[in-house]
Amino acid sequence: MSHKTTWHTQCFTEYDLSQAVSILKKGELLGIPTETVYGLAANALDASAVEKIFQVKARPSDNPLILHVAHCDWMLRYSQNIPEMVWDLADKFWPGPLTFVLDAKEQIPMTVTAGLPTVGLRCPNHPLTLALIQEADIPLAAPSGNLSGKPSPTTAKAMFEDMAGKIPAILDGGACSVGVESTILAFGETPYLLRAGGISVEEIESVIGKKVLLGKNGFHDKLEKNDQPPLAPGMKYRHYAPKAPVTAVLGENSSQWIAQYIQKEEGVICFQEYQSLFDGYPHQVIGKEKDFTTQAKQIFSALRYFDQTNVTHIWAQCPEEKGLGLAVANRLQKAAGASIISATSAYVREKR
Ligand code: TXA
Ligand code: MG
Repeated sequence: MSHKTTWHTQCFTEYDLSQAVSILKKGELLGIPTETVYGLAANALDASAVEKIFQVKARPSDNPLILHVAHCDWMLRYSQNIPEMVWDLADKFWPGPLTFVLDAKEQIPMTVTAGLPTVGLRCPNHPLTLALIQEADIPLAAPSGNLSGKPSPTTAKAMFEDMAGKIPAILDGGACSVGVESTILAFGETPYLLRAGGISVEEIESVIGKKVLLGKNGFHDKLEKNDQPPLAPGMKYRHYAPKAPVTAVLGENSSQWIAQYIQKEEGVICFQEYQSLFDGYPHQVIGKEKDFTTQAKQIFSALRYFDQTNVTHIWAQCPEEKGLGLAVANRLQKAAGASIISATSAYVREKR
């Protein structure tokens, strides 16, 4: 079968756009740049092409894919019962890192929606990928372009590390400008957050003039209670994990906590202000403590960096959970699994 084909994975630039379109039209997979992270794209209307995404990523089949469209009008092609506030949000934030979960129209293959009656739609803000979708005139189903469970790729090179030999080509559009995945919103009586991402909850609330419903711990955990399947199925899996185990440390004293407990051969993800505490340990600086925008850009490459080292454990300072900090903190906590420590009250938070 073609998913077992070993490809000589090519790196395309903007000059190869027509070749990129033809790969998609042939039902093969293509790495695409977006402003959030690189995606592993297929023609969303071709069920057997979409199937290859799950095989190549080793992705559980109950985890649905986001449909990437070229314009907000395309929402009408693939979804129905669109709430008024979605148009307002699309007006303000599209193209951009915001995904809407809406009632799906019938022509969307079950492999895309994982059998749910809804579909996630987003218009990515990257000129090459927008041109590609326009030119192909098909929506692209695309998860992040990492192997399942690994940190998302924010450069073509990082995607190549995971996908070399597995797909025909990656379209190189440079480093991702946002660096964390899109925010995912679903709509009941009130809108609710399924994943914190590149557009902050505060920004969304300022457009719709309403509160966005969050879980008790800031996001999505309410969806995992009462035996209900989580509404964003992907959020239940361990994610973003480098080879070495990660401990996320929250709170104002996180740097001192880490400096006190760090052992030889352990690594650190830290804020710029505290870098000097970790001289002599392998470390990655993700930006200043309050600069969530820079942290978002750096977080996945920082996590990936440690796979090239021999560290036995990674300590990570976790930002405050506001603005884009919520998305960065979520990625670190998912990478840490159950290993989350509050440096202020010194108790270990239970696994969510
Ligand atoms: O920024 C992004 O969103 C990136 C780029 C490539 O666009 N894509 C991305 O896709 O992060 P992925 O597959 O890694 O994450 C998609 C998340 C998963 O947690 C999935 O469960 C959720 O979106 N999702 C997709 N369709 C859904 C639906 N109909 N209902 C609920 N959750 C959905
Ligand atoms: Mg992903």
